[in-house]
Amino acid sequence: MALIDKINELLNNVDNLKASNAEKLEELRIKYLSKKGEINELMNEFRNVPNEQKREIGVLINELKTKAQDRINALRASFEEQKGTDLHYDLTRTSYPVNLGTRHPLSIVKNEIVDIFSRLGFNIAEGPEIEDDWHLFSSLNFPPDHPARDMQDTFFVESHPDILLRTHTSSVQTRVMENTQPPIRIICPGRVYRNEAISARAHCFFHQVEALYVDKNVSFTDLKQVLLLFAKEMFGSDTKIRLRPSYFPFTEPSAEMDISCNICGGKGCSFCKGTGWVEILGCGMVDPNVLEANGIDSKEYSGYALGMGIERITNLKYQVKDLRMFSENDTRFLKEFEAAN
Ligand code: DAH
Repeated sequence: MALIDKINELLNNVDNLKASNAEKLEELRIKYLSKKGEINELMNEFRNVPNEQKREIGVLINELKTKAQDRINALRASFEEQKGTDLHYDLTRTSYPVNLGTRHPLSIVKNEIVDIFSRLGFNIAEGPEIEDDWHLFSSLNFPPDHPARDMQDTFFVESHPDILLRTHTSSVQTRVMENTQPPIRIICPGRVYRNEAISARAHCFFHQVEALYVDKNVSFTDLKQVLLLFAKEMFGSDTKIRLRPSYFPFTEPSAEMDISCNICGGKGCSFCKGTGWVEILGCGMVDPNVLEANGIDSKEYSGYALGMGIERITNLKYQVKDLRMFSENDTRFLKEFEAAN
């Protein structure tokens, strides 16, 4: 075959060169562009081309060489590109770590408290955080001059002396009793607000859980049993409880409950101020006035109620020294509770 025909044939071929993988591509490169490749062969033959044809054939060979190089480079580039996408779909690759969130310590403890009471047949009830005087105070037997009604202690909604942010979850007692006849057995978790200067030991909002049981023949003994069971479930079976007489407008008699300090085991430490006991909740028998104010016959029914701060219980369980940690959303603090989730 004349040299010019060989060149033209190769020129046709190189445009359509194909390689299914990198090895095949290398074979093509060797075939066309290596020292012993077809194009160099042509160069050797070129020496024998008569002078008057040298210009024409030289141009063609150069064109062939450029085309072959371009085509092989293009094929190589497409392999590189594919390599990139292969990486993307490499199913054997270990996945990126997924950052799972953790439950907030107050939620962990709230859920635990609610769980314990649920097992005893209590149902969750909720009420609004913006309340009126009746649900928060009057229906709960608060006298008109009680300090909780004072602007100093409570956030009132501006220009509405009757509307305020609830100071305790006891308002949910009324929300339920006014619409339900006994038996009533409810547990009410929620946020409450008080006009306090913010410090390590006080905040202007915190969380409570309230429980209420109203039925025929409910006695203080029932209350005591539930309290003991709750303390043991929450803080361990060695936990002891102690009830001290106290006063709340909505219960009579009223008590505050201490548990044996679960940090020092009752020996006395800085947390329990050396006494071996820490106060965790208020409780008592629902005052008959409260039952009557809510349309429940106090001669037929009696009940007990209790309320506790979730922050306080959480402090005891996890020894969080500064209340402000609970609302600062520092993920380093929140991550410490990963294991408890
Ligand atoms: N509401 C009270 C408070 O915020 C806590 C409390 C005490 C709730 C005694 C009760 C109770 O239901 O019986 O300090």
